[in-house]
Amino acid sequence: MHSFFKFPWILLPLASAFKHPHLDDLINGFKNAVDCDGCHALLVPLKALAELGDSAFVDTLVATCKVLKLEDPDVCVGAISQQGPILSHALRGISPFGKTATKLCEGTFGLCQPPAVNQYTLPLPAPGPAAARKPPAPTGKTPFQVVHFSDVHIDREYAPGSDSNCKKPICCRAFADEAVPPNEPAGPFGNRNCDSPAGLAKSMLDQISTHHTWSIFTGDVVEAAVWLVNRSEVTSDIGLFNQELSAALNAPVFPAIGNHDSAPVNNFPLDTATGKFDAQWVFDLEGKQWRHWTNRTAAREVKHFSGSYSVTAPGTNLRIISINTVYWYKQNFWLYDSDTPAHDPRGILEFAVKELQAAEDAGQRAWIIGHMPPGSQDVFSDQSNYYDQIVQRYRNTIAGQFFGHTHYDEFEIAYSDYENRGADTAVGAVWIAPALTPRSGNPAFKVYDVDPETYEIMDSKVYFSDMKNPKYQTEPEWKLYYSAREEYGPLVDLAPTAPLNARFWHAVTEAFEKNDTAFQRYNEFMTRGGHVHPCDAACKKVAICQMRAARAENNCHVAKPGLTFGDTERDDPETLMKNSAPPAPAHPQSQCEGAGIGHLLSQLALKVTSGPGRESSMADLRSRLEKIIPVPRAVDEL
Ligand SMILES: *[C@@H]1O[C@H](CO)[C@@H](O)[C@H](O)[C@H]1NC(C)=O
Ligand SMILES: *[C@@H]1O[C@H](CO)[C@@H](O)[C@H](O)[C@H]1NC(C)=O
Ligand SMILES: *[C@@H]1O[C@H](CO)[C@@H](O)[C@H](O)[C@H]1NC(C)=O
Repeated sequence: MHSFFKFPWILLPLASAFKHPHLDDLINGFKNAVDCDGCHALLVPLKALAELGDSAFVDTLVATCKVLKLEDPDVCVGAISQQGPILSHALRGISPFGKTATKLCEGTFGLCQPPAVNQYTLPLPAPGPAAARKPPAPTGKTPFQVVHFSDVHIDREYAPGSDSNCKKPICCRAFADEAVPPNEPAGPFGNRNCDSPAGLAKSMLDQISTHHTWSIFTGDVVEAAVWLVNRSEVTSDIGLFNQELSAALNAPVFPAIGNHDSAPVNNFPLDTATGKFDAQWVFDLEGKQWRHWTNRTAAREVKHFSGSYSVTAPGTNLRIISINTVYWYKQNFWLYDSDTPAHDPRGILEFAVKELQAAEDAGQRAWIIGHMPPGSQDVFSDQSNYYDQIVQRYRNTIAGQFFGHTHYDEFEIAYSDYENRGADTAVGAVWIAPALTPRSGNPAFKVYDVDPETYEIMDSKVYFSDMKNPKYQTEPEWKLYYSAREEYGPLVDLAPTAPLNARFWHAVTEAFEKNDTAFQRYNEFMTRGGHVHPCDAACKKVAICQMRAARAENNCHVAKPGLTFGDTERDDPETLMKNSAPPAPAHPQSQCEGAGIGHLLSQLALKVTSGPGRESSMADLRSRLEKIIPVPRAVDEL
């Protein structure tokens, strides 16, 4: 106390501290968060807020979300209280004006474009003689089948009869504030505004079992009502689905971990010293529960390599390498907590290299499987670039790459020279499976015909269940939708014995450029004919650019506010109204994210520039925040 009297000059700055300095900065920051500079400026008061503690940070964002009506109040509270502390932790660790901050402004607010790739040469074993081995020629032998399914997003609280046309990001649940009577009662087998009922997943698994073969599953077991998801739900959802897989399928399943397979959503921290946020429980659980399809070594790998593992597929010389790509995901906020770039978060790239080298040494071929594809707009372009270096080095060993996450049936191509993307430089094909969840189109899965010696894909057949079929809500019918070989082969004069490799897919993109009918069919196939996104010439250009980009820096995506990864850039009017986002012709965004905090913050810039009653809602926000943001306690601080 005596120092107070000794240094009375200290009272000067304190006097202004009593006037909520953070609050004024914050309100101005929100108002000016309309471009990249504005976003960096906003990070200054947001970081100051984070320094006050997680609860001040969370309460402030919750109030902002409620006042600006970014979502329903329960969604605001749930999403922000779960993920907010991670964002707050990240902000405390970085400069508001650094490169990581620019990435954050892109990944959450959509206000900056990603910074240039941080050039880095990944340490890779020198190619031995085995690396020079050319990929084997197709054998012409009878192919075997492998099923690829993804993004099941099973909602264990799906309630038939509840409102399927609600205002929340996910409907068909008995919400406390739901419309009575419901606007449109949910049917038993799913709805486009909702995640999958368990019965729909069962129906698909029964269908898959008729193919009598092993499968790959590229992640996302848990539903996307992310504002409610917690660890006990994820544990139970994962356990139930693994049991259902074992019961329905009489052949192994090789899974990968999805961004929804943790709680809170996307919670995959860099280190394990994060207390209640540690995600080791996910790896322990999956390692154990996947073990009967893999083996003891793989189970240990899942545990110690953050969900990644490798195993030789039964009766083959094919190594399946499953990697956790959520450590490259822009919505994993742990990845923004330092200004020093981590080249290989959690050593996922290193793991892939080790396993590919083992495959190369053993004369095996390899398939890489994972959740998030490497070339999409929601992957960090740094890790995408480093992963691409691996693909280049092991191009003769890798026979295929398989992902999910976008919910679309689509593909991406890797090139040895991205400046000259052509059939001759196309070296890797990335296969992306459609989702089961009806949220993004008709429920679907793929069946590959695989050459039994080269392990290249000879055909890919998509099976789907048409929700417009009058019998759908009684018993979904599964039918062959199309065969890629039949559909695209004739467009590119495909030789009868040639595989559907990167060369082939590049030729298909050229056919799409010339033949709009063929492209429009592809566009329809992306969502399996359900809620098709119209795609005009400008949109087609970006779509083809995305096909020619297994490396994210080349995908032609442009970040925009209001449209992060949960939204679609070309969606139907209904969804556009829901998101109050302007239509923009481009590649549809990944459907995976849902209403996480990234989605909420991406709405902010739109609301502060064009939201109705902007000034009065800002005044309202200010008075609400006055009660939340603590006045610095002057005397104590002395
Ligand atoms: C976790 O979520 C489930 C399902 O929403 C809910 O029933 C349960 O009460 C929640 N548990 C905790 C500890 O919050
Ligand atoms: C598990 O499979 C891998 C790859 O197929 C093999 O290298 C390893 O020895 C196997 N481990 C056990 C315990 O069988
Ligand atoms: C264009 O594509 C459509 C649909 O695949 C096909 O039927 C048609 O023959 C193609 N036209 C040409 C000129 O290749």
